[in-house]
Amino acid sequence: MATITLFPLSLAHSKVRTPNMKSPHLIIFLVIFFINDSIAADPATSIIFTTLGRSRYAFDIFSLPIDTTGTEIQLTDGNSVNFNGYFASSFNGNPITNPTFVDPQSTHLVYVTERNGSSSIYLDSIYHSGVDSTRKRSVLEAELTRYQHRLVGGSGGRISMKDRPSLVGDFLVYVSTHEETGVGRTSWAAVYSTQLSTKVTRRLTPQGVADFSPAVSPSGLWTAVASSGEKGWGGEVQELDTDIYVFLTQDGSRRVKVVEHGGWPSWADESTFFFHRQSDDGWWSIYMAILPKNKLFTVNSVTTQRVTPPGLHAFTPAASVTKKNIIAVATRRPGSDYRHIELYDIVSGSFKDLTRSIAPRANHYNPFISPDSSRVGYHKCRGSGSNSEVINNDMFLENIQTPKPRISLFRIDGSFPSFSPDGNQIAYVRLPGLYVVNSDGSDHREIAPDITAFSTAWNPTRKGVVYTSIGPTFASEATDVDIFAVEVDKDEPTFTKLTFGGQNNAFPSVSPDGKYIVFRSGRSGHKNLYIMNALEGEKGGLTQLTNGPWSDTMCNWSPDGDNIAFASDRHNPGSGSFALYMVHPNGTGLRQLIHSGSFGRTNHPWFSPNGKYIVFTSDYAAVSAEPISNPHHYQPYGDIFTMKLDGSELTRLTHNSYEDGTPCWGPKFMKPKDVEWPKGEEKCSFEDCTWLAISNSRDGEKIQCGG
Ligand SMILES: *[C@@H]1O[C@H](CO)[C@@H](O)[C@H](O)[C@H]1NC(C)=O
Ligand SMILES: *[C@@H]1O[C@H](CO)[C@@H](O)[C@H](O)[C@H]1NC(C)=O
Repeated sequence: MATITLFPLSLAHSKVRTPNMKSPHLIIFLVIFFINDSIAADPATSIIFTTLGRSRYAFDIFSLPIDTTGTEIQLTDGNSVNFNGYFASSFNGNPITNPTFVDPQSTHLVYVTERNGSSSIYLDSIYHSGVDSTRKRSVLEAELTRYQHRLVGGSGGRISMKDRPSLVGDFLVYVSTHEETGVGRTSWAAVYSTQLSTKVTRRLTPQGVADFSPAVSPSGLWTAVASSGEKGWGGEVQELDTDIYVFLTQDGSRRVKVVEHGGWPSWADESTFFFHRQSDDGWWSIYMAILPKNKLFTVNSVTTQRVTPPGLHAFTPAASVTKKNIIAVATRRPGSDYRHIELYDIVSGSFKDLTRSIAPRANHYNPFISPDSSRVGYHKCRGSGSNSEVINNDMFLENIQTPKPRISLFRIDGSFPSFSPDGNQIAYVRLPGLYVVNSDGSDHREIAPDITAFSTAWNPTRKGVVYTSIGPTFASEATDVDIFAVEVDKDEPTFTKLTFGGQNNAFPSVSPDGKYIVFRSGRSGHKNLYIMNALEGEKGGLTQLTNGPWSDTMCNWSPDGDNIAFASDRHNPGSGSFALYMVHPNGTGLRQLIHSGSFGRTNHPWFSPNGKYIVFTSDYAAVSAEPISNPHHYQPYGDIFTMKLDGSELTRLTHNSYEDGTPCWGPKFMKPKDVEWPKGEEKCSFEDCTWLAISNSRDGEKIQCGG
C-alpha cells in the first residue's frame, strides 16, 4: 500500500482533468490514483438541513373513551415525536410481555417514534399503578405506569423510516424504507414483518413495488396495503395513485388487487375493510370493501360502497372489530382549518365529534380503535398543556442518525443554514429573521429579527461577513429581492447592498479567495447565474455566467474554486423539474450532475469541505407515506443525499415522510448530540394539508382540493 501514496496528488489532479485513455501508463496511473482516493478516509464533517414544520410537531398519542365523555389521556411519554399508534390485543408467545402484570385493563400501544435521531417502533404497555385494577379508565394519566420496549429500529439498527405498525400475536407488520430501489423517483417504502421472538424480518412487498399504510386483519391472516403497483410514483403530492392489495401476512403470497383507487385500509373483520379515496365529487370519503367469504379475491369479486356523505372530507378510517357499525375518521369540515377525529355510525349515518370540543384549534391525526372498542387513539401536538414531566422536543439542532459515521447530521430549527469558514458558527434564517449562533448552540444572536431573508453564505476570507438575499421567496423574476453583505460581528450589524433594482437577486455563494460572489438574478427576464465583486457588489464588476430562457438557481462555489454547482430546469424549462448541474466559473465545462428522473426535482447543492462530494435534496426516493396522513408539506417528499461529483456513492442520509431541504456542509465534526433551545419555543404552529381547504364561492361550496 505504501507505493500508492508515492504519486503526488497535484500531478494526479492535472492528469485526471484531461485523461488520454490511449496511454497504458496513464490508465495504470489513474487506476492507482482512484484506489488511493477511495482508501483515504474523508475527514469528519457535519451537515445541517431543514425539515419543513417538523420542529413544531411535538406529537404524542392520546386517547379518548368512545361512549362516555371522559378525560383525554396522553399515552406516550412526551419525548421526541410519537405517532401512528395501534392498540395491540394479544401477546401470545410474545417474550416481551411482563408476566407479573395481569391487569385486564392494561393497554398495549404500538407506535412510531423518532427519538434518538432515527425512526423506530415502540410498544408501551400501560398499566394502572394502583392495586385496584378494576377502576374505570378515566383515571388520570399520572396513575398510569408505562413499560417501554423498542421493537424495531433505533440505535444500532438499519437506518430507515418506519411507519404504520400493527402487532398481531408475535408478528409486527410495518413499513420500512431500508432497501434501496436503485431507480430514481421510486419509493423505498415496503412492508415487512418481524417476528418479535426470533427477530426474523421478512419483506412482504414484491421487489420493484412500493406499499404504503399496511393493515392486518383481526386474525392476522391477511394484510391490506395501498400500493402504486407497477405504475410507480407519478409525482402526486396530494392523493397517491394507489390501489388496495391484499396478501397473506405470513409470507406476502396470494397477493391480489382488490380495490382500484384507494388508500389507508382498516379491517373490521376477516372480509370487510374500510378505506379512503377522493370521490368524483371532490370530497375525500370513506368506503367499505366486502371481500367474498370463499377467500378467492379479485377486483371484480369485491363490492365497494361509499360510506361517508359529501359535504365534508373524511379520511384515514379506523374500523372497530367489536362495534361493526362504528368507524373513527379524521375530518376537515367547511369553515375549519383543523383536522378532527369523529366517530361515524354507518347505520344511522351520523357523526359524533370527539376532539373538537376538547381542542378546537389543534390538528388530530390518524385514529385507531382499541380491540374492545372502548377507546379511540390518535396523535396531536402535545402543546404546552402536556402533563408529561419530560418535554424533549425543544431542539435547535436535532442529531439525526446517518449511515456515514464520519458525517455528523443535524436538523436545524430554522432554514438556509450555512457554516462560518471554521465551522464554529452557523448563520440561518427564520421567516422572518436572520440569526447567527455558535455551532454548540451558545451565543444565539438576532442579527435582524424582522427581515425576510433566505439563503445565507459566509465569506471564506473576511471574518464575520455573511451574505443573504432579502425579499420574498419563491417569487417571479421581477420581484424585489437584493443581496446584502452583513457584518454580523459588529455590535450593530451593518448591511451593505450589493445588487440593485430587485429582479430577484438571490442565492449568493462566495469564491474560496473571498473575492467574487456567484448568484442568480432575474434581470434578463430569466433566472440565470451572474458573478460579481464580493466587496463592492455589482458596481465593482458583473459578468453573466449562464444565459437562457430557463431558471438557474441555488448556486454553490466549490472549495477549490474551479466549479459552481447549481439547480436548473434547463432540460425542461418551466416544468418545475430541477436537476443539478456544474459549470466552471469561466463558463466552460457545463454538465449535469444528477437528475432524479423525468419531472424529477433535485435542489440545493452544497459542496463538501474537501470538494469531492455534494449534498443536496431530491425526490430520488419519491414519497414514503400517504401525504394525507401527515401535516402539510408543499412537497410530501425530499430527502437529503450525498454523492461524489462523478455520480457514484449516492447515499440517502434522511429517511422520513417530510420535506427535507436546504442542506449545508461544514468542516468541523460536531458532536452527534442534540443541541437544545435555551428556552421553550412555540410548538404547535404547523398547518394541516392546505389542499384540503374548502372555500365558499359565489355558488356555494367550492372544493379547492384536487386542482
Ligand atoms: C437515547 O438517548 C438518550 C440520551 O441521549 C439515552 O439515554 C438513551 O439510552 C437512548 N435510547 C436509545 C434507545 O438508544
Ligand atoms: C476554464 O476553467 C477551468 C477550471 O477552472 C479550466 O480548467 C479551463 O482551462 C478554463 N477554460 C478556459 C477556456 O479558460
